[in-house]
Amino acid sequence: MSVSVELALPRCADALNPRALVEIISSWLHIPATELDLTVNADQRRIVIEAVRTMNELAGGGDSAAFHQQQLLLSRLYGLVLRLPQAVTAEGSVVLHEVVRLLEEATLAREDHGVDTVLLDEAPADPKDYLSWLKNLARRHPAYKHPYYAEFIRDRAGREDLRTYVIQESVVDGRFDDLLAMMQVGTTDDAKLEIARNYWDEMGNGDADQVHTHLFNQIFQVFDIGADELEDALTAEALLSGNLAVMLCRYRRLYPEAVGFLGMTEWFAPDRFVQVVHAWERLGLPDVGIVYHRLHITVDSLHAAGWFHNVIIPAAESPAMRRGIARGALLRLNSSARYLDERLAEARSRS
Ligand SMILES: [Fe+2]
Ligand SMILES: [Fe+2]
Repeated sequence: MSVSVELALPRCADALNPRALVEIISSWLHIPATELDLTVNADQRRIVIEAVRTMNELAGGGDSAAFHQQQLLLSRLYGLVLRLPQAVTAEGSVVLHEVVRLLEEATLAREDHGVDTVLLDEAPADPKDYLSWLKNLARRHPAYKHPYYAEFIRDRAGREDLRTYVIQESVVDGRFDDLLAMMQVGTTDDAKLEIARNYWDEMGNGDADQVHTHLFNQIFQVFDIGADELEDALTAEALLSGNLAVMLCRYRRLYPEAVGFLGMTEWFAPDRFVQVVHAWERLGLPDVGIVYHRLHITVDSLHAAGWFHNVIIPAAESPAMRRGIARGALLRLNSSARYLDERLAEARSRS
């Protein structure tokens, strides 16, 4: 097998700023994995790995451009394992695996700064008390009933604001079924069944026209949003929300965190979507675009209740699960709050 396109390779570390690094690695994504691993020599590999570490340090130190490039690269690399390819891809490449690991570790370390470990230690041991504690933690969090939804979306957002909103939301809502499919691997008993019920709802209970991702995509048609517009429009915080969801759902060691992360996502959706539906009706937008949000006001209340009772309570017998679920919940709440703060500041800057 030979490489059909010219492979972009790094020459020296100094010239490799985050943007150049992301361009080089992105150009590798359509090279067959074996070919890529054979072509990138030890020196080039070292240069790339060093550049990834530098980008991670910059992102962790508050450099917003580096943070954006870091999350953009992770999102593109996740694309290799989340989308069926139209052509050859580098899925399985060893050098790309190393890059993914570094990006994931840095992303998680950055998010863990916002997780109060003392708080995790305070979690009650009794499963029902634990669930009440977790819900109270979420109710006291700035992400709960955030003004971006409760005030801006509900009463002030215009058509363009809603268009921007759904683009940013696509990284989680647009693939919620695949997140569930990934996180259910290895589960048993009540948890397996609850994830299966939730998944079947995602599949429209067998009706192709009611599949949730299909319903979500109808809103894209109302706003004429194309696939190529998506990536450019996604902010760093939106990319991070999607990347975190994928990371927690794809690794078995992070299963407890996925339970907490998705549990909070389901639980917060109905109240948020009430505001979206209100805005949609206020603006008189086509009804076809709001089916997804209207449906989830009801269905996600049921999903959250099922999740709490059939996934979280049985799991909460274990101290490690209690800790991981709370960590995952906080990872979702913190990233959601930051993302909504950013959205609100952006909206206010335009009004
Ligand atoms: Fe759904
Ligand atoms: Fe749901």
